[in-house]
Amino acid sequence: MTKRDLPYDSILARSFSKTDQKRLGFVAFIASLLFFFTLYTVVKPYLCPLPIVGTGLRMLRITELTTNTTISKEEVISECNEMEKPICHCNKLGSKEFCDLSGDVRILGKSATVLAAITSAFSGNSTWHMRPYARKDQVTAMKRVREWTVKVVQNASLSRCVRKHSVPAILFSLGGFSLNNFHDFTDIVIPLYTTARRFDGEVQFLVTNKNPWWISKFKELVRKFSNYEVIYIDEEYETHCFGSVIVGLNRHRDYEKELTIDLSNSEYSMSDFRKYLRDAYLLRNAAVSTWRRPRILILSRSISRAFVNAGEIARAASQIGFKVVVAEANTEIASFAQIVNSCDVMLGVHGAGLTNMVFLPENAVVIQILPIGGFEWIAKTDFEVPSKGMNLRYLEYKIAVEESTLVKQYGRDHEIIRDPLAVAKRGWGTFKSVYLVQQNVSVDINRFKPVLVKALELLHKQSV
Ligand SMILES: *[C@@H]1O[C@H](CO)[C@@H](O)[C@H](O)[C@H]1NC(C)=O
Ligand SMILES: *[C@@H]1O[C@H](CO)[C@@H](O)[C@H](O)[C@H]1NC(C)=O
Ligand SMILES: *[C@@H]1O[C@H](CO)[C@@H](O)[C@H](O)[C@H]1NC(C)=O
Ligand SMILES: *[C@@H]1O[C@H](CO)[C@@H](O)[C@H](O)[C@H]1NC(C)=O
Repeated sequence: MTKRDLPYDSILARSFSKTDQKRLGFVAFIASLLFFFTLYTVVKPYLCPLPIVGTGLRMLRITELTTNTTISKEEVISECNEMEKPICHCNKLGSKEFCDLSGDVRILGKSATVLAAITSAFSGNSTWHMRPYARKDQVTAMKRVREWTVKVVQNASLSRCVRKHSVPAILFSLGGFSLNNFHDFTDIVIPLYTTARRFDGEVQFLVTNKNPWWISKFKELVRKFSNYEVIYIDEEYETHCFGSVIVGLNRHRDYEKELTIDLSNSEYSMSDFRKYLRDAYLLRNAAVSTWRRPRILILSRSISRAFVNAGEIARAASQIGFKVVVAEANTEIASFAQIVNSCDVMLGVHGAGLTNMVFLPENAVVIQILPIGGFEWIAKTDFEVPSKGMNLRYLEYKIAVEESTLVKQYGRDHEIIRDPLAVAKRGWGTFKSVYLVQQNVSVDINRFKPVLVKALELLHKQSV
């Protein structure tokens, strides 16, 4: 979904809806345009999850976590050390992942406050601050998430109840890195699944950081998760009342595990999740088909990390015995899910499009192509490890420098080719603009062919 992920227009529109279009004068409008254009350029790297080059970029990620921002880490950790176990759950980073409140819970959208007179054994009043988005390790994402105050009181005269609901609610943010396909799944869809699944549709979604594009992108899933229209809670002046509210989403505690469900933390598995997706999108293939010619999907990209010779790759795959489908993940998610699910092998350059592996049938093969720049760690974290958790087979192809268009652009002796780590040390922006944005891939067919042959072997092996 790369191209569609953070469409320029949508970023603008999304931001404007937040800023209240009506009050923007012309000057402000232009200023915002400039600002969001800049933001877009800055944000775009996350189209592809944060790459980490060796320890260099990994350090960037950690630095970001501790960088001085509106979120003070000490504050968050000390809150987590409180005796709050039955109410708010923390992750390994020491920040609260979600709070589970039952009793008399009232939501004040305008002031971003959740007031709860809770029924569980809990003495005294307590106040917590939290941002209900499951990417607590990245300040850049968390800054785009509205902060909520959760106040638990014993006997309180709570804000007057105006709208009473008979079902539980889940309050979560669609800010952060939403509309990047990888983050949509790892930060929102999967945590939402593990949080909402048990309600079987009888749950009210309260969305903070209004994002109709996201709701529209995932409409099939949202309809399956919840039988009720989403409420954009930030816009609500009236107090909404519930008997039970979960603030935030239940992501497993270990943030280095992407696209994964931690069974110690969830009653549902990744297989359950993938079955749920197949039901939501009416996908027919639970496992690879062994009775027909195997099909390979070549994920094309049209702007960056594009295949220079997709045609040649397709011909080679066809000669080996595959039926070839070439498609870019920028169509409706429902129709793209159909395409992916109809294939037995998915091949693509590292990027958010590979997240579509969630729709592959079991035992299918994922082939990830690594551009130059040092993508090993991120490739493993974001797609290799997750693919195994989905019962998929995984193959990797690291291109040689000759297969990168960067060589033609800079020459073999340039630092960009020789020493990506040095480039990475100059910061994320520099790294991104070179290795993620400027690089296309021209696969050496002879060098690559054995990978295709291996993929075919893996499919045959499991059919015996
Ligand atoms: C950094 O953190 C300190 C202490 O929390 C605070 O006083 C200071 O204002 C912060 N600086 C910025 C730029 O946020
Ligand atoms: C809890 O908060 C309520 C309402 O603000 C207040 O009346 C009460 O005294 C507080 N109780 C404790 C133990 O702090
Ligand atoms: C507080 O709530 C408890 C249990 O609901 C009740 O027994 C008690 O009388 C209440 N106290 C006050 C001061 O309202
Ligand atoms: C990469 O390929 C795309 C699609 O062909 C093209 O639009 C883009 O300009 C190329 N980028 C570079 C840096 O060559």
